[in-house]
Amino acid sequence: MPQSRQIPKETGMDHSVALMSEGYLFIPNRCRRFQSDIFETRLLGGQKVICMSGAEAAEIFYDNQKFQRKGATPKAVQKTLFGVNAIQSMDGERHKHRKQLFMSLMTPDRIHALQNIAEEQWEYAIKEWLTMPEVNLFEEARQIMCRTACQWSGVPLRANELKQRSSDLAAMVDAFGAAGPRHFRGRQARKRSERWIKGIVEEVRAGVREPAEGTALYEFSWYRDLDGNLLDSHMAGVEILNILRPIVAIAYFIVFGAMALHSYPDTKDKLVEDDGTYHKMFVQEVRRFYPFAPFTGARVKNDFTWRNHQFTKGTLVLLDIYGTNHHNEIWDQPNRFMPERFKDWNGSPFNFIPQGGGEFEIGHRCAGEWVTIDLMQISMEVLTQKIEYQVPPQDFSIPMDRMPTIPMSRMLLTDVERKV
Ligand code: HEM
Repeated sequence: MPQSRQIPKETGMDHSVALMSEGYLFIPNRCRRFQSDIFETRLLGGQKVICMSGAEAAEIFYDNQKFQRKGATPKAVQKTLFGVNAIQSMDGERHKHRKQLFMSLMTPDRIHALQNIAEEQWEYAIKEWLTMPEVNLFEEARQIMCRTACQWSGVPLRANELKQRSSDLAAMVDAFGAAGPRHFRGRQARKRSERWIKGIVEEVRAGVREPAEGTALYEFSWYRDLDGNLLDSHMAGVEILNILRPIVAIAYFIVFGAMALHSYPDTKDKLVEDDGTYHKMFVQEVRRFYPFAPFTGARVKNDFTWRNHQFTKGTLVLLDIYGTNHHNEIWDQPNRFMPERFKDWNGSPFNFIPQGGGEFEIGHRCAGEWVTIDLMQISMEVLTQKIEYQVPPQDFSIPMDRMPTIPMSRMLLTDVERKV
């Protein structure tokens, strides 16, 4: 029998401060130092945590026999980013049933409807940009995505609400790796947003509103769980926010995409000429290259051994998303921006995991991955084929110790003109 091997262990009582100061690089730095895709550390008040990186680690992590989500997400993240006891913390048949509902919103017809709405909303924004001395792309993209998400989901949004709702949805995302005021802002934003959506779900159930079938508002309002019960109106609202909030979060990738166009001008030339193929590769490379989701977590469900390492029931395990997308055994020159690399990508559900890995239906892989790719493609088409603009000098640095991160200047554009 092979001897069980010790997982390299970081000494010390707790490394949460290092996690906050190294951010996206916390796991990759230690993998390099230990020369290992797996190591043990202590986080969250001295709790033993195993960190893993790479395609093989992802394959193990997405095995439902080995891992569960119950108890994996800290309450601070549930109270800002996800919502308490929402789909991200569910397991087994109950998770599968809820996930089917999310995936049922992603039919080709519904995605086509979303594309049309997004194109219309971009047009509407461009008209305004033509008269603006300076466009803050991050701010604008959040609002475009917010209007798109609400319209697609059947959620009413008055013009005078747009600023508050889009900034609340963004604040929940902005809080995920934060302590202090940013975390507090995220909590307040979640409370306000949950009250708002809960009220709308109650109006639907009272017959005051009649959203179209197939919209998130309709489907979550009338969804029955495995026991045949409607979700309580608060939980229905929390899950609708699990559609609205991440669509608004696509603004991060839109800004990174615009930054790539600026930093690698040859890619912009290719996109201007492109009929679709290069757009897809470009969007994939933006999702791989730039930092957004740093890692995801689960707890060991039953004791098991992997590569002779012993995993004990209840241990928290973090899968390194950023590091896997930059792993030098998976990617040639991982720190170079090269959309063409996706020509030969093998399509594995475990080696390219910007929005999680594994299978959509039975695992926790992001329900909105196709939507993200489509909305990104539309955004890049707008920036390369519909308008011209100048990029004034600004601070493009991307702080790796901030989660989520964004270029310091948020991407400013000037002299926007429509292409003829
Ligand atoms: C903005 C870009 C996005 C990023 C970076 C992102 C990232 C992620 C990640 C890392 C996970 C967790 C994977 C795991 O724990 O295994 C996830 C889950 C999820 N995402 Fe996204 N996502 C994005 C956009 C979206 C969109 C547009 C939607 C909906 C329209 C969405 C809905 C969800 C849902 C419902 C889950 C939970 C799935 C489950 O627990 O089964 N996301 N996403």
